[in-house]
Amino acid sequence: MNLTLKIWRQKDADTKGQMIEYKVTEISEHMSFLEMMDVLNEQLVNTGKEPVAFDHDCREGICGTCSMYINGEAHGPDRGVTTCQLHMRMFNDGDTITIEPFRAKAFPVIKDLIVDRSSFERIQQAGGYISVNTSGNTTDANDILVPKDNADEAMDAATCIGCGACVASCKNASAMLFVGAKVSQFALLPQGRIEATDRVKNMVAQMDLEGFGNCTNTGACEIECPKGISLENIARMNRELMKAQLD
Ligand code: SF4
Ligand code: FES
Repeated sequence: MNLTLKIWRQKDADTKGQMIEYKVTEISEHMSFLEMMDVLNEQLVNTGKEPVAFDHDCREGICGTCSMYINGEAHGPDRGVTTCQLHMRMFNDGDTITIEPFRAKAFPVIKDLIVDRSSFERIQQAGGYISVNTSGNTTDANDILVPKDNADEAMDAATCIGCGACVASCKNASAMLFVGAKVSQFALLPQGRIEATDRVKNMVAQMDLEGFGNCTNTGACEIECPKGISLENIARMNRELMKAQLD
């Protein structure tokens, strides 16, 4: 198929960006969206132009780096997939595709489609872990029994890949689906209860400090999340925070 691409180009964080139009031809419907971007970049390099900068690593829906806003949707028109898993068969010959970086105050643009999501790292560092004593007296994991339902819900929450689509889709640029998932994956397990009070307080405080907005229950985050993280996790985080504040 032949396509017209309108892509956000921005030299660096201090330079104003703009949409630039490109044409790509002979794109196979079996290509992934990133492979189509590779074709464009090869074309740009071969004609002495600067390729479009975009983030990617695993190209199999695991690392969460390939964040792009495609035709007004985070990760594009398909459901339950990241940009690297999006296939060109979702588009038609002759289509015009608009490609922009994720936009949020807490995700400043670094270059073209790459944004700085280190705010997520700082939220994780504020409490998204369990302190484990590894000085020779570790407990066998099987010694701590976990109810099956809790284990399943914790595992579902742990599938969050930190891509930031929830933030990009939210009119308030709220990170509550991400933080809710990270709080929940520990809150549901006995191992996570020990530091639960400090964890939720510190992660929510860091989230606010980074400039993310509040949740107003629109639910766009849940729809656009490539990992199907449920809004239930936001409710659980709010309950955890209330409990922690009363402690
Ligand atoms: S909650 Fe979903 S959309 Fe948000 S960072 Fe995690 S995987 Fe991405
Ligand atoms: S490149 Fe890793 S999730 Fe897309």
